Amino acid sequence: MEIINRRQRMSSVSRKVRREQDRTIGLVPTMGALHDGHLSLVREARRLCDVVIVSVFVNPTQFAPGEDFERYPRDLTKDTAVLTDYNVDYIFAPSPEEMYPKNFSTYVTVEGLSEQLEGNVRPGHFRGVATVVTILLNIIRPDFAFFGQKDAQQTLVIRRLVRDLALDTEVVILPTVREASGLALSSRNAYLNEEERHAAAIIYRALTRAESAYAEGERNGTKLAGIVRSTVETEPRARIDYVSVTDADTLEKLDKLNDRTVLIAVAVRFGQTRLIDNLVLNRKDGAK
Ligand code: PAJ
Repeated sequence: MEIINRRQRMSSVSRKVRREQDRTIGLVPTMGALHDGHLSLVREARRLCDVVIVSVFVNPTQFAPGEDFERYPRDLTKDTAVLTDYNVDYIFAPSPEEMYPKNFSTYVTVEGLSEQLEGNVRPGHFRGVATVVTILLNIIRPDFAFFGQKDAQQTLVIRRLVRDLALDTEVVILPTVREASGLALSSRNAYLNEEERHAAAIIYRALTRAESAYAEGERNGTKLAGIVRSTVETEPRARIDYVSVTDADTLEKLDKLNDRTVLIAVAVRFGQTRLIDNLVLNRKDGAK
């Protein structure tokens, strides 16, 4: 395994893999502090592709001022050890100056999917995500790129961007990996103290309660959101940022769900830590 820090070296390595060796490339973009959620993506990349590249880059442009960019967990030594065990071929770990050269001034905005939910609370967040993912896809030109359903809105933004800009990569979305308590794995869980971590399991309990109501025939979006809200509110440590019930593809707010595929997405704060999670109901392809 090789750790690559330079854009140019990364481009030339992956060009060689593609052209001379005619092997397929899978890219797993991450911000490091790797956990089993990330590793589920790496495992699938390993299964589907000849060469696996994991990028580790805490992307400054997707953090708003006052967010946790500085204190975001970073441990490239540990991440490297884990990725070696997973037989990853290359780690791409550029510095911010390498990713965003002097006078950088070109950004990618995916209009219509970036403003609501996370984008509403974190202005500029998806512009940062879309920009860095576009750069990564252009440097590496992978056949497949792997993302987690955990960040539902991010998956929609990336799918749209790849389609609209005609990028030659197939986007693969994989299910959310959870602790036994139901808490979705996240690098930000490291910020939680023990009580908060225990309390945070309420998020998934609330989502599954709405899922059960849906299974019993509830088709009113406001009512489903109310079930999630009132369940989360039983936990005194939880402060809700939003609970949203929308069309799973367009993020259009839904009241009458009928037979639409529905995304229930939530953001909840525990102390200083903000967690997001979601469930998709009535997925037509049967995936979770
Ligand atoms: P990061 O939060 O490090 O997540 C990297 C990838 O792992 C994302 O696709 C995310 O959805 C996925 N992931 C995180 N937790 C997961 C879980 N519990 N189960 C399954 N997948 C999970 O998302 C980002 O980084 C950044 O925005 C990035 C796309 C790298 C752009 O900077």
